[in-house]
Amino acid sequence: MVNGTVIPLEVRDLNAWYGTRQVLKNVSLAVRPNEILGVIGPAGGGKTTMLTCLNRTLELAGGRSEGIVRIEGESVDKVDPNELRRRVAMVLPLPVGLPMSIYDNVAFAPRMVGVTNRRELDEIVERCLTQAALWDEVKDRLDQLGTRLSGGQQQRLTLARALSTEPEVLCLDEFSIAIDPVTTMRIEAVLVELKKQISIVLVTNLLQQARRIADRTAFMLLGSVIEEAPTEELFEFPKDKRTHDYVNGKFG
Ligand SMILES: Nc1ncnc2c1ncn2[C@@H]1O[C@H](COP(=O)(O)OP(=O)(O)O)[C@@H](O)[C@H]1O
Ligand SMILES: [Mg+2]
Repeated sequence: MVNGTVIPLEVRDLNAWYGTRQVLKNVSLAVRPNEILGVIGPAGGGKTTMLTCLNRTLELAGGRSEGIVRIEGESVDKVDPNELRRRVAMVLPLPVGLPMSIYDNVAFAPRMVGVTNRRELDEIVERCLTQAALWDEVKDRLDQLGTRLSGGQQQRLTLARALSTEPEVLCLDEFSIAIDPVTTMRIEAVLVELKKQISIVLVTNLLQQARRIADRTAFMLLGSVIEEAPTEELFEFPKDKRTHDYVNGKFG
């Protein structure tokens, strides 16, 4: 709790290992309501691993963790993993199109949880594709294979799919790696709109992207959070020399 509000996601003293190799060291972070938390840092710093701890997919990747991860105050260890992954949705760097129609891609998760009413599914599909800024481009061909869309469209389809479970927290892992700057900007606008309803964790390799849309930003290096601050403060007045060097392009 901070000022009486429940924190959507809170990580405290989190450690993680693959085999005997420790890749997260005492990571502490909080994702506040209706904000975009940016996470930046060079490759190999543990950003993706940190995300996988949020919805307990680290176990599936062959790792293990110790420490506290809470969703709305409750330990994620006490939440059913499928339920948790519905509440904490993940968009991966490369779009993972399911080999099925655009419509079925978005309706997939709702059907899994038992939504069968066609009108209800239609509404979900339209809402999610609209939120993902894809509806206008695909509304006349919802039966077409999702895997035949362009890279940028598939990335937005992936986003629509993530939104179909009505997550409380949306995590994006370097989503713009495979798409053009124009599509990236469109999705950024979508994220700014979405944060009115949910919280977002934005892992990004693009410093300027964090700067444009993250409310606060954390800098991760070699498995640790070096510094976390309101975005402008982190970029303009970093407290740690390593943060300063990274945001000024001296390494990474
Ligand atoms: N499935 C895995 N098995 C073993 N080591 C891994 C695995 N995934 C990541 N690592 C290692 O863990 C460290 C952190 O990786 P990662 O979380 O992917 O960092 P980032 O997302 O910041 O690039 C790296 O050294 C990486 O090689
Ligand atoms: Mg990564």
